[in-house]
Amino acid sequence: MARIVAIAAGLGLLLAGITTSGRQPGAPQPPAFDSVSQRHSWVLTTLLPWMEQFQERYHNVPRSDGEFLRWLIVTTQRKKGLEIGTANGYSAIWLGLGLEETGGHLTTIEIQPDRVREAKENLKRAGLLDRIVSVVEGDALKVVPKLEGTFDFAFIDVGPAAAAFVDAVVPKLAPQSLLVAHRPPFPGALRDYLDKVGRRSNWLTTVIQTGAPTALILTYVRD
Ligand SMILES: C[S@@+](CC[C@H](N)C(=O)[O-])C[C@H]1O[C@@H](n2cnc3c(N)ncnc32)[C@H](O)[C@@H]1O
Repeated sequence: MARIVAIAAGLGLLLAGITTSGRQPGAPQPPAFDSVSQRHSWVLTTLLPWMEQFQERYHNVPRSDGEFLRWLIVTTQRKKGLEIGTANGYSAIWLGLGLEETGGHLTTIEIQPDRVREAKENLKRAGLLDRIVSVVEGDALKVVPKLEGTFDFAFIDVGPAAAAFVDAVVPKLAPQSLLVAHRPPFPGALRDYLDKVGRRSNWLTTVIQTGAPTALILTYVRD
């Protein structure tokens, strides 16, 4: 009898802590937090590791890139972030953790409605949805020109097509912004993007590989 009670209690705990959600089964549910740092710690140790099992499906940045993006936001005190290509919200959570620390905000754009829904669910679990990160559904090439105001940070993560988004994003960047692109692991990927940003002699571009075989292309947009 005691064994049955113990099994039932264990099952109850499991059901309370885990839900199934479409293509992302078994999502961990956030407990009540006493502080922002306690929530951030849960996101880093529980939510993000759970999301990492779906990394190949969504072509998320590697964890090391996520850590670097957060570091970049905090150390350079970015306040207004723009992301093109949300997928399920993995990189948006890393950016959002940084922007919550700087008092900033991220607008992230995703074209696939089911991914928008999944990203919103994950950002809500992280305690970032709407307050720190807004998800906009649509084609970024059409959405970005209609966004109000300017940004001091932009992250383009749309696979091999990043170059096509530069002309839409750059008019929205304030002077001294950071423009970052995620380079997928295909031979020669984003060569056209590198050509495009490299042509601007006043900009400063470098490529880093925190999470090889993918890379981040960082551009300092001076003007
Ligand atoms: C590589 S995934 C993004 C991964 C995400 N940044 C992460 O690391 O968690 C690229 C995403 O860009 C989206 N996408 C492609 N073209 C787009 C467009 N024109 N506007 C908005 N999103 C687009 C795709 O649907 C896909 O979900």
